[in-house]
Amino acid sequence: MYLYPKWIRVWHVINAAMILILIVTGLSMQYTDKDNASYVVGFAKAVRWHNFAAIVLILNYILFVTGNLLTNNGRYYRTSRKDFLLNLRVQFKYYSKGMFKGEKHPFPVTEERKFNPLQKFTYILAMYVAMPLLIISGIGLLLPEIVITTIFGISGLILTDILHITMGFLLSIFMVIHIYTCTLGAKPTSLFRGIITGYHISEEE
Ligand code: HEM
Repeated sequence: MYLYPKWIRVWHVINAAMILILIVTGLSMQYTDKDNASYVVGFAKAVRWHNFAAIVLILNYILFVTGNLLTNNGRYYRTSRKDFLLNLRVQFKYYSKGMFKGEKHPFPVTEERKFNPLQKFTYILAMYVAMPLLIISGIGLLLPEIVITTIFGISGLILTDILHITMGFLLSIFMVIHIYTCTLGAKPTSLFRGIITGYHISEEE
């Protein structure tokens, strides 16, 4: 099944590479000390690379949102309230018990359903909640003069910073879990091949 059009594959590889650069340079900045000791990357270099990767990530994010608005891929992210919690529970039960007993996927991939309910939910949270908050707070830190000075007596810049590192942390955790769940296809490598070649390999093939 051809499920990953070229533009989403290009978006995905750039996104993954930029997020990795942002994690490494972000941690380097966070754990640097006043002597500018080099952790993974020296402070000045980390700032330069972090800003560069952030700008590429933002442009790429615009590609993701526009692509999903203008092409059929967007329909995979649409969700309905009907059986929402029930479906999440069924999928969670499969991940926590069923798959270890060799049960079949409760929501097999079809042309109409690329993502299982948990996958869809986490992709929506990552792409339409965490990423916008990460980007907006990042722009606030890049251009501090646009940030409100104080909110209820607390520095706006500190609140922006807390929001930014929290979203960065949550997206890093998302990525670890995402990579793990991507090993749960027909074979451990099937889904990775899918996002590179565009073709999903289902269990029957
Ligand atoms: C090295 C890091 C990464 C690897 C190896 C990886 C791997 C994969 C694989 C194998 C798929 C296809 C299976 C599927 O549709 O679920 C996929 C899809 C996807 N990944 Fe990743 N991923 C990485 C990083 C990320 C990051 C950082 C994000 C978001 C912040 C992300 C968001 C997505 C989304 C939204 C899809 C679905 C795209 C679509 O078909 O519409 N991935 N990823």
